[in-house]
Amino acid sequence: MRISEKPAAARLKELRVELRTGVSLSEKTSLGIGGTTDELLLRRFETIPEVMRLLANEKIPYRFLGGGTNVLVDDGELPWIVLHLPTSQPGMKVEGNAAYVDAAADLGGMVTFCAKHDLGGMEGLIGVPGSVGGALRMNAGAYGTQIGSYVREVELYRAASGEIETVRGNDIRFDYRHTSFAPEDVMLRVKLELPSKPFKEILAGIKVCNEKRRASQPLNQKSAGCIFKNPPGGSAGRMIDELGLKGHRAGDAMVSDRHANFFINAGSASCAEMLRLIDDVRERVHKSFGVELENEVILWKN
Ligand code: EPU
Repeated sequence: MRISEKPAAARLKELRVELRTGVSLSEKTSLGIGGTTDELLLRRFETIPEVMRLLANEKIPYRFLGGGTNVLVDDGELPWIVLHLPTSQPGMKVEGNAAYVDAAADLGGMVTFCAKHDLGGMEGLIGVPGSVGGALRMNAGAYGTQIGSYVREVELYRAASGEIETVRGNDIRFDYRHTSFAPEDVMLRVKLELPSKPFKEILAGIKVCNEKRRASQPLNQKSAGCIFKNPPGGSAGRMIDELGLKGHRAGDAMVSDRHANFFINAGSASCAEMLRLIDDVRERVHKSFGVELENEVILWKN
């Protein structure tokens, strides 16, 4: 969708919202898959409610892109624009055991920043790619740690009220890869409360997690992490592996030969190919194990 041709473009300029036209989302997602659209860069949080009103008035559909590490985007010209918070120099500060971090910050960057201030607990999250905002929305987790456990406050644009609000951690539900935020809410900032731990000790924990991850996950290939959620008490990766599906393909979309719940773009895979692979694997798992796997990756279909 081209917002540059809409009346909203002039007002957006006044609000100092940067417009980038014809952006290919294949360059903005870790899977390297996705079509083309216009992008708005929201530099000043206080303008977000007005930007949202403008988009609603002119019926311009949008999606909010964080780090792009857990999303599978459709091919071709996309019928919605993309909103994005600037990622250069996002704010991070520590006061006592509290860390205040902008949603646009890199998740790993936040873990190491806090570590340098002797605040730990999040070592398990170190290799999870993506932004803090995306991690909050999905309640990202690894190696027994979930970000939700440390959240004390979230500042967000709440779609229901059309305003920027602060929500207390106790009022948010954090479940397995799921939270009570509405899909249209936009994460802006978070306050975390973290246990004190000497930097050296945190670093040792980070090293262990990094090694485990390197040994079991295809880190240098284009993926969106795990494609399916684990079913209660089970492991999607193990089931797919047991079916001998490592290396199984649909075009350039391929089940990783390192971790069977990682599907990789082995060349120039399209969204259609990735979806074919996802459906194929889901069906095979269902047939053999009677388990209906649920997507972990978020699908942005037209
Ligand atoms: N397994 C296999 N074959 C495989 C992959 C795994 O047999 O190809 C077996 C492993 O040997 C192990 C079990 O399955 O016994 C579980 O595997 P693993 O420890 O790799 O963890 P996982 O359940 O597959 C989850 C998260 C990961 C997270 C790791 C580490 C989900 C869907 N996945 O994976 O998160 O990094 O634990 O804590 O919850 C993600 O969210 O995108 C993600 C990758």
